[in-house]
Amino acid sequence: MDRIRVRGGNRLNGIIPISGAKNAALPLMIASLLSDETLTLDNVPRLADVNLLQHILGNHGVDVTMSGKRAGDDENDGQTLRLSAKNIVDTTAPYHLVSKMRASFWVIGPLVARMGKARVSMPGGCAIGTRPVDFHLDALRALGADIEIEEGYVIANAKKGLRGAPIKFAKVSVGATHTALMAAALAKGETVIENAAQEPEVFDLADCLIKMGAKISGAGTSTITIQGVERLHAARHSVLPDRIETGTYLMAVAMSGGDVLLKGAKPELLQAALDLLAKAGAEITSTNEGIRVKRDGNRIEPVDVSTAPFPAFPTDLQAQLMALMTRAKGTSHIRETIFENRFMHVQELARLGARISVDGQTATVEGVERLKGAPVMATDLRASVSLVIAGLAAEGETMVHRVYHLDRGFERLEQKLARCGAAIERVAG
Ligand code: EPZ
Repeated sequence: MDRIRVRGGNRLNGIIPISGAKNAALPLMIASLLSDETLTLDNVPRLADVNLLQHILGNHGVDVTMSGKRAGDDENDGQTLRLSAKNIVDTTAPYHLVSKMRASFWVIGPLVARMGKARVSMPGGCAIGTRPVDFHLDALRALGADIEIEEGYVIANAKKGLRGAPIKFAKVSVGATHTALMAAALAKGETVIENAAQEPEVFDLADCLIKMGAKISGAGTSTITIQGVERLHAARHSVLPDRIETGTYLMAVAMSGGDVLLKGAKPELLQAALDLLAKAGAEITSTNEGIRVKRDGNRIEPVDVSTAPFPAFPTDLQAQLMALMTRAKGTSHIRETIFENRFMHVQELARLGARISVDGQTATVEGVERLKGAPVMATDLRASVSLVIAGLAAEGETMVHRVYHLDRGFERLEQKLARCGAAIERVAG
């Protein structure tokens, strides 16, 4: 298995291009199931999760073609995918695929809306929390689907089609909002989703569905109204920039010091993180080209923060922020409110010399002057990248194992950092 070797101590200077967002690309690809015409997606990141979802959609009969690279193309340009779900040949999403990537459960919404039935494996356990799917099922039931659980599979049936209905989520859920949006797009009549997720990726999905002919208003707010239509048609949409990748590189530069332009990044997608980093002492400017982040030799100031749904500080940046705070000038408190088990990186950061204690959902991080490199491994995508960030500032060598986690969500991480001066490389094997 590949590893990533980081030698700490180099400042980062230069330009890092921001890729299309993984967490927008995945639901957008799934939305192709809603139409028998082709959905063209631009700026799709080259990631293991995108490849896996292509395979999963292929199983349902979606024909996916990827644009080849042409002379003159910038290697930073995302890929273009053409997804054609003209003939859906199978409405079952099997356990061996859904268990590899939870987001593939979201095929349930479009399949039941368009085909009147779906048989989708329950995703099972997850490294960061229990992550049930009850809100997805409640939303589909509200729209008139009959739901049963058999042998680990959710069997959803709506022989006469779905009917628009009010849906009120007990808690904000990005995935359940995606499911409700996609299902309601083809339901008969009006659906109003209350307590909808306001994450930019939900807005991006709604934007694409509107281009496909859906009638949706209010996406990006907590109440979304959908007037169902009979069919959706071909459309072309470009995936929005990845706010989590952006935030990750902001933390990396704040950690190592330097001056980097995050090209293509959009400040409005992560204002809470920008405000927090500015408070911690990073210099942040928004330009036409993206976000520029600078930090001189001063140590970072500690922060107190809770993760929460958008527009607050995102759970997907919690591990990276914690890595940064391991070297702050004082004590930080970081509270995780979205997932109950998202502190698996704490023990690995401790191997580098970080001083962190966890009490329930709050981690107390006492900044230390120096970290020292060590072999480390992580259990999920964002935890892995937090170890890379820590490694950038640690003395000596940090070897990050289980790089496959990183490959799920960060496009060319080591090249992007190395081009800005980081001593980082992938070690095959
Ligand atoms: C999405 O997961 C993201 N995944 C996650 O990113 C992200 O951490 C999360 O949203 C929160 O922002 C993708 O977009 C592919 P949720 P999702 O439903 O939709 C509870 C990453 O690193 N809940 O918003 O699965 C749930 O347990 C990943 O890229 C229920 O109780 O998250 C959690 O506590 C990790 N029942 C909370 O809601 C349900 O039916 C929010 O989860 C659904 C969710």
